[in-house]
Amino acid sequence: MKVLHVAAEIFPLVKTGGLADVVGALPQALIEQGADVRLLLPGLPAIIKGVEGLLPVCDIGPVFGAGQVTLRVGNMVNSGIVAYVIDAPYLYRRSGSPYQAPDGSEWSDNVQRFALLGWVAAHMAAGEFDPDWSPDVLHAHDWHAAMACAYVSCRPATSAATIFTVHNLAYQGVFSDEDFHLLHLPSRLMVPGGLEYHGQFSFMKAGLKFAHRVTTVSPSYAREIATSEFGCGLDGVIRSRGASVSGILNGVDGVVWDPATDQFLAQTYSIDSLEGKAACKAALQQEMDLRVDPNAPLVAMVSRLTSQKGLDILLGALTAVAEDQRAQDAQLVVQGTGDPSLEAAFRAVARGYHGRVAVHLSYSEALAHRVIAGADALVVPSRFEPCGLTQLYALRYGTVPIVRRVGGLADTVVDLNNETREADTATGFVFGPPTSSALTQAFMHAVSTYRDRDAWYRLMVRGMAQNFSWAAAAKQYMTLYEDVLREYGTH
Ligand code: ADP
Ligand code: GLC
Repeated sequence: MKVLHVAAEIFPLVKTGGLADVVGALPQALIEQGADVRLLLPGLPAIIKGVEGLLPVCDIGPVFGAGQVTLRVGNMVNSGIVAYVIDAPYLYRRSGSPYQAPDGSEWSDNVQRFALLGWVAAHMAAGEFDPDWSPDVLHAHDWHAAMACAYVSCRPATSAATIFTVHNLAYQGVFSDEDFHLLHLPSRLMVPGGLEYHGQFSFMKAGLKFAHRVTTVSPSYAREIATSEFGCGLDGVIRSRGASVSGILNGVDGVVWDPATDQFLAQTYSIDSLEGKAACKAALQQEMDLRVDPNAPLVAMVSRLTSQKGLDILLGALTAVAEDQRAQDAQLVVQGTGDPSLEAAFRAVARGYHGRVAVHLSYSEALAHRVIAGADALVVPSRFEPCGLTQLYALRYGTVPIVRRVGGLADTVVDLNNETREADTATGFVFGPPTSSALTQAFMHAVSTYRDRDAWYRLMVRGMAQNFSWAAAAKQYMTLYEDVLREYGTH
């Protein structure tokens, strides 16, 4: 089974969020299940620099406004997985974010930049660019790669089956109808049954409409996006795909995220010897300029600062918790970057509660590990969450999650209540409504449970014993690949 994964980011080379973690780990897990997996990536500077031993495969020439496009092939760092890289200097060799210019606006030529990614994928699926290797299954991730499904659909002779995975329906790649010609697609696709979306056109819709199968990153999110509340305007399209849409829960990269071997920590630890976790907490309190106190409940958040993540809900709950007598010693660490107004709001809170609230408004992989290891609890109050990875990392690190009952958060954390206390199955705290009062309640429940050392210890070790492995997810993807090939593949 030959599978080509197509994506715009990949850990550890280019990462803006969990998509990179998934693309960095899932291919290896599929290889372990027996698949022959290769990657197709845009030639962003970090990818050109990081993929080892790049050699030319095919001279593509001038396309999508780029003077010269070359397909190269090399090997991923660490895993050695074969990676095809689209070397299009004019479109991709820019520093900073893969999606945005330094001023925060989307790159003005994103239509061409990501159409090219899908177009090359479709040519590879048709066996045109590498005569020695063409995929049975083309697996595209998020809107950046979604056009691959539309291009394949226009080439009926292509034997590969297509899978499109939605990591986040809120980012859709919607462009002006005036740019439709840039796609080099027949105009019959610029219709409501095709890419057309309220007079514009949508890359996300191309994936949802034309992929043979659509998946998303948790079973709950797969159900949610078929509703108008979570469907971001595409719930009708999703409902129309019926049983072709399914949810497969993400896993944790157990090599990158393991407290027993984590090089970033002050001291490593495991379920059998937790002393290291106390050392990580003391080190984090010191690093963040918080009062060093082993008994103070330390809650953290590591997140993109966007409306999705419910930071306004957290801001609203902060004062109530900080002023509550029962939580006078509670501490909060927020690590994140994003929306300037949210950054400013957190800076103000940190000034107001010096020594109790610390914010670190930058991107640092190493610090994310230290925060997740050093905290007692991790809060994820998202308005929606396709899967969410930080709560999975937290569980593994004995850091108890406090999450909203939505998407993948609902699928991965078991609330502590009378029933789960009795059954000994709780792993965290789960609240329902997206309100500061519901979060405050969950927070206070966590703080009071924290005072009961035995109850807290049981939560921690149950969380650490959970197994959100990529092997389990990879098995489900393999079954899906086999099903879709049986139906559509002609290799
Ligand atoms: P999303 O993909 O929606 O951002 P996830 O929970 O799936 O949410 O993944 C977020 C990933 O990004 C995690 O690996 C998390 O550790 C990382 N992350 C988020 N913000 C930062 C930051 N400021 N510094 C380092 N890592 C971060
Ligand atoms: C998206 C989602 C997040 C998910 C990640 C990886 O960025 O927001 O919930 O975990 O993709 O699938």
